[in-house]
Amino acid sequence: MKLSRIFAITMALALSVSVAHGFDPEAGDAGQGKEDWKKCRDCHDGSKGEKLSPSAKTKKQWGRYFNDDYAKLKKKHADWDSFAYSTEFLQNVHRFLNEHALDSDKPQTCD
Ligand code: HEC
Repeated sequence: MKLSRIFAITMALALSVSVAHGFDPEAGDAGQGKEDWKKCRDCHDGSKGEKLSPSAKTKKQWGRYFNDDYAKLKKKHADWDSFAYSTEFLQNVHRFLNEHALDSDKPQTCD
């Protein structure tokens, strides 16, 4: 009885920690993401990287870049670690891209 209680508390703690630090595709603020996205756009306005807007990809396609601890984004950006993006930053950008993706209600093309 006592042991199972300790186990339950430990699990609850572990869960709250992983929620606080792990990437959550449902979390993030699209409004803030619009601002945060500008950091990606510094390169993705066609200057250093391919010109990208949220509507360049579908929700699913964007999702694939952020899955597995951003594995696909890391693969595309050799200097990814030097960008030092926080989980919160990436969650915001992810939400913004999602809400204005090609197959969203409000695809964003114009900029
Ligand atoms: C320092 C410049 C730089 C920054 C900052 C940057 N990227 Fe990139 N990105 C590149 C380069 C260079 C490539 C590889 C060439 C290409 O495909 O444009 C790339 C590739 C990509 C690709 C693949 C494009 C494709 O269709 O194959 C995606 C998606 C992408 N970046 C998203 C992002 C996101 C999201 C951010 C911000 C969280 C970001 N990038 C920040 C330079 C940058």
